[in-house]
Amino acid sequence: MAKVLVVYYSLYGHIHKLAEAIGEGASSVDGIKVSIKRVPETLSNDIIEKMGATDIQQKIKSTVSEVSLDDLTNADAIIFGTPTRFGNMCAQMKTFLDSTGSIWSRGELFGKVGSVFVSSNTQHGGQESTILTFLPYLFHQGMIVVGLPYLFKGQTIMSEISGCSPYGASCVAGENSSRNVSQNEIAGAFFQGKYVALITKDISNNREKYFKTLVSLNN
Ligand SMILES: Cc1cc2nc3c(=O)[nH]c(=O)nc-3n(C[C@H](O)[C@H](O)[C@H](O)COP(=O)(O)O)c2cc1C
Repeated sequence: MAKVLVVYYSLYGHIHKLAEAIGEGASSVDGIKVSIKRVPETLSNDIIEKMGATDIQQKIKSTVSEVSLDDLTNADAIIFGTPTRFGNMCAQMKTFLDSTGSIWSRGELFGKVGSVFVSSNTQHGGQESTILTFLPYLFHQGMIVVGLPYLFKGQTIMSEISGCSPYGASCVAGENSSRNVSQNEIAGAFFQGKYVALITKDISNNREKYFKTLVSLNN
């Protein structure tokens, strides 16, 4: 079985819903095992209460376990989900990524598939910049980057407001993050999960071969 890990942070639940759809898309491919994990929280309970997210946080924390460094090492693909914070990834995700230096130094994510999905309140509030500024992490880890191709037809709809771009699935959470994730956004997330899983299934068996061949070039 090739392993797809979905790892995310979600304060109000939108990324959580997209993560579930991504997981379903990946699970729909034979021979793929999916796990969904969350990055550790960095905000105090007091701040979370002030942000009006206590209930949803309790739900997420009681159903989704925290990611470990071993989860990353053991996966064949990692799909990262983050809400936009001022056009970039959230601090919780960045703090977690900054804890992965030991993995980088051993080349443990080399040749694994990496992909990103996001959400923002507003249509033009930084979904694409959040993914684009996430990508250097994937490249530094030597990952194979996969987005959401225009093969996903929901990408071009004009009949409703929708997230999703060639860079990855996304949702527009609306004012005060009060809008539900739309069916089209869920479909984009499912598509991305399936696309990552299909690619992962094909390449994961050869990762060690590439790694050894390339490392030997240094000798
Ligand atoms: C500190 C902060 C900064 C944010 N910055 C942006 C932003 O730059 N653009 C935007 O459209 N939404 C912004 N938002 C809204 C979040 O992106 C939105 O709440 C999130 O995408 C909802 O996803 P979630 O339900 O998974 O937490 C911000 C929210 C917070 C708390």
